[in-house]
Amino acid sequence: MSKALSNKVALITGSSRGIGRAAALALAKEGASLIGVHYASNTDAAHSTVREIEALGAKAVAIEADLKKGKEATDDIWQQFKTAAIATTGEPCLDIHINNAGVAPALSLAQTSEAVFDETLAINLKGPFFLIQAVADHIRDNGRIINISTGFTRVAAPTHPAYAASKGALETLTLALAPEFGPRGITVNTVMPGVTETDMNAAWMVIPQARAGAEAMSVFSRVGQPADVADVIAFLASNKARWVTGQVIDATGGTRL
Ligand SMILES: NC(=O)c1ccc[n+]([C@@H]2O[C@H](COP(=O)([O-])OP(=O)(O)OC[C@H]3O[C@@H](n4cnc5c(N)ncnc54)[C@H](OP(=O)(O)O)[C@@H]3O)[C@@H](O)[C@H]2O)c1
Repeated sequence: MSKALSNKVALITGSSRGIGRAAALALAKEGASLIGVHYASNTDAAHSTVREIEALGAKAVAIEADLKKGKEATDDIWQQFKTAAIATTGEPCLDIHINNAGVAPALSLAQTSEAVFDETLAINLKGPFFLIQAVADHIRDNGRIINISTGFTRVAAPTHPAYAASKGALETLTLALAPEFGPRGITVNTVMPGVTETDMNAAWMVIPQARAGAEAMSVFSRVGQPADVADVIAFLASNKARWVTGQVIDATGGTRL
């Protein structure tokens, strides 16, 4: 039986761990044929994700590149992925591009140095911008671009102003680009996760009061799991979401409603 994403070729930044890894597995379960598992430096985690994807019957390639390096890194990601795409499909193509890699420094306005600000914007905004630019002409008709934001663009986060601003700009980029890709049936959307149980939050989530506070923010009284967000990503990647573009899809579990 044909699956929702049969023969689709996908590239997911930051898919060695967390939400990106869960998205990669969700796409593999839906029949994707090749998934690029991009990461910064955690080779063991990336190779582990590659093996999990392969166990589900899809091909996978690990792609190392530090997005702190800006356009040099995004060009490098596309060059590495292109080789794998040609080997799998015969052409330098992709169908689903997911900008998921991100960092979230918990630093107030006063605590944020210029270096941290620049690094946060480079990874969370400049990387997605130039990676979309690099892949734009190679995304096949009816493809998908999915950017991963944060609930901190809807709920004020004085604890993370640089992070929130970088993701707010990513949402605006999503809106700005949707018309450009529309004529080819390519949708451009953002998924907005809330607090999700990943390494990003591991340090503070072990503190019972902190975890309870995060759980209380959702109308479901729990924190999100990576698969909760990954399933929304997989839906947007599918043909069922063909009429949705330029949108921010809230996948925060009803945070602070
Ligand atoms: N977890 C949450 O509560 C939450 C909430 C809202 C939004 N989000 C967003 O969801 C996305 C995924 O978050 P997550 O919690 O799954 O993160 P995570 O578990 O911390 O994983 C981060 C991923 O990004 C990669 N990465 C980190 N720095 C990078 C760099 N300099 N260059 C390239 N790749 C880099 C990591 O690669 P390595 O493995 O090599 O380090 C890893 O694959 C992020 O954009 C985040 O802002 C998360």
